[in-house]
Amino acid sequence: MRGSGPLSGQVVVPGAKNSVLKLMATTILCDGAFELTNVPDIVDVSIMGDLLAAIGVEMSRPAPGELVLFNTGEIIPVAPYELVERIRASINVLGPLLTRCGEVRLSMPGGDDFGARPIDMHIAGLEAMGAEFKFSHGYLEARADRLHGAEITFDFPSVGATENLMTAAVLADGITVIDNAAREPEITDLCEFLVAMGARIDGIGTSTLTITGVDRSDLSPVSHRTVPDRIQAATYLAACSVAGGELDVVGARADHMTMLLDRFGDMGLQIDAADDGVHVVADGRPRSIDVATLPYPGIATDYKPLIITMLSVADGVGIVTENLYPGRFRYVEELQRHGADVRTSGHHAVIRGVPRLSGAPVRAHDIRAGAAMVVAGLAAEGETRISGVHHIDRGYDDLVGRLSAVGAVIERC
Ligand code: EPU
Repeated sequence: MRGSGPLSGQVVVPGAKNSVLKLMATTILCDGAFELTNVPDIVDVSIMGDLLAAIGVEMSRPAPGELVLFNTGEIIPVAPYELVERIRASINVLGPLLTRCGEVRLSMPGGDDFGARPIDMHIAGLEAMGAEFKFSHGYLEARADRLHGAEITFDFPSVGATENLMTAAVLADGITVIDNAAREPEITDLCEFLVAMGARIDGIGTSTLTITGVDRSDLSPVSHRTVPDRIQAATYLAACSVAGGELDVVGARADHMTMLLDRFGDMGLQIDAADDGVHVVADGRPRSIDVATLPYPGIATDYKPLIITMLSVADGVGIVTENLYPGRFRYVEELQRHGADVRTSGHHAVIRGVPRLSGAPVRAHDIRAGAAMVVAGLAAEGETRISGVHHIDRGYDDLVGRLSAVGAVIERC
């Protein structure tokens, strides 16, 4: 790619990876054919499809952006290493398999290369609901004749633990209360999917979820439209910020990005919510700000590589504090190859903006870092070659096509 801009035109944002993968895993709960629309064309959906096929849920793609998941009723509660190690979201089959089958054997999940990602909260919550766990030969094994309701208070609002306990509680005996639950828009999407299936959940969108268990015969398969991807939307806003120009980001939900849009406004982007998305105008260099990542509704950690890239070319000095994954600064070395002035210490990065980056060979270390490399390439004079782009394919639906359609000089080779 080459430093390019201004960008102009329309970009359509597809459904969220971090929702659709969970919706897919949840189809384990009841037999029959589910339909999902607004599904992004990303590699992680295919991997989750392969995992579900091994479990007993067959996936087909009747049209672009659509999936049919057919739960055959013959569920095998085993999630094999070869598939599980490829995506973190494979942990989301734990709750549905355990609550449906009374047993599960799951290889320890994989994910991104930015530090330890324990699952102790998932395990402690399911134990409180009556499950017994053991580790053996790299596999987590759990058993419970029938899970029972429990009152669970998280130390931290973990996205994955909230999802696993919530889906497990749907078929548990009695009432489960999850306090300090995560409340990301993708969690709300999952709650709405479950309620449409026949689950009983109160407190949707809040940090206290109350789930009253039902019988499997009370559930039925549904059609559901996946919530739009706020991280992909933010990527196009960041691209516009560094390249300049004017974009309609169609499908973006401004109400799911309130705090981020406020901070982008502080950086000088003019953003207006429209009926079908957001309209952004970027004129001149971004201004520096200080940002700290936090669980929703705070600034998501997944936005951070984009924000640091914007700050690399901003006017002034910005400080970014990471509160979720201490090790998530690896892409900073790649930004430094572009001539960015970024220093990290512990959870903090200090970014002294420079007027322009310079094109360089760089590597994508994970999905979000990869997207940040693309944004940096737009802000860099000359040619940038990004390797490791298979990471980007895990979470972005045709990033190259979408950006080149609005004027970026970028191609896949
Ligand atoms: N944590 C624990 N113990 C647990 C669970 C989490 O210590 O049992 C810690 C984690 O180690 C981490 C923090 O809590 O430091 C946040 O973890 P959380 O469970 O909230 O995240 P996750 O469910 O593993 C999802 C997204 C991530 C996103 C985080 C935070 C999916 C598949 N992944 O991960 O997205 O960064 O929430 O918002 O939904 C990405 O899409 O690139 C990505 C990494």
